Formats: sequence, C-alpha cells, structure tokens
Amino acid sequence: MPISFNLNGKKVSVDAAGSRMLAYVLRGDLGLTGTKVGCGAGICGACTVLVDGEAARSCSTPLEAVAGREVTTIEGLERSGALHAVQEAFLAHTAFQCGFCTPGMILNACALLRKNPRPTREQIAQAMEGNLCRCGTHGRILDAVQDAAKGGAR
Ligand code: FES
Ligand code: FES
Repeated sequence: MPISFNLNGKKVSVDAAGSRMLAYVLRGDLGLTGTKVGCGAGICGACTVLVDGEAARSCSTPLEAVAGREVTTIEGLERSGALHAVQEAFLAHTAFQCGFCTPGMILNACALLRKNPRPTREQIAQAMEGNLCRCGTHGRILDAVQDAAKGGAR
C-alpha cells in the first residue's frame, strides 16, 4: 500500500516498502538528488533533511516513519525563486568546496535556527559537529550560519 507524506509542501504517495530508507526514496523513486548519501549509516550527515522541521538523517529514516509528516529537502527551501537565507549565506561565504556535504549542512543549520534563531558561534559549532565535511570548509560554514542568524534566517 502506498505511503503518503508531504514533500516540500506537496503531498506525495510512494509505492515502496515501508522499511526502505527515505534517502533512497527521495533520490531513486522521486528524483530529488539534492539529498546526498555519504556513509549510508547515520554518521556523516550528508543525507540530512527536515522532518516536521527537525533535522533527520534520511539514510537511517525508514519511509514508514515519515507517513503523514512534512519532509523538506534542499529542493524545497527556496520560496518563489528566492533562496533561503542560509543558502544565500553559504554562497556569500563560499562555504563549500565539492558541495557534497552542503545540502545536509544547510538543512541542519535551518533546523538549528528554527529552534535557536540567535545561536552563539559555540552553539552553532556544537549543532553542526555531527555533519562532516571532507573538504575542510567547517570554518566558512560556521561563518555562513552565523551570518544567516544575524540576518534573521527563517
Ligand atoms: S549518508 Fe546519512 S548520515 Fe551519512
Ligand atoms: S564541501 Fe566537500 S565534503 Fe564538504
């Protein structure tokens, strides 16, 4: 039986096993390849999406766990063609190199700013430490999140 959830503001139904991990449903079944899979084991954070506004590792989240819930991927952050403030800040700070970790970083930062709109740099570092960047852009990522917070990221 298909499993339905809201994806980036639109209802979708997926005919897949409930145990299939969300990252593979998003990328393989729904064609949203902005969500990346690095470790596939809940360790690196590359696959981070929002589920009801909270950061979730989609490589370790079964499809059945999001039934009836709101899932936001990197493709769903812009509004009427305008990038989210966190996306703008990442661009302004060139807070990426290869870009593989970037969608997960941005969504994790969005979840943080939703809970704590004015985090200190230490709080940002703490919230982002589970998201790994093999290119070593962590410093610029912290700068970007800090700037997005100053600007009142939604
Ligand atoms: S791919 Fe999901 S945590 Fe690494
Ligand atoms: S920019 Fe390459 S892994 Fe972070």
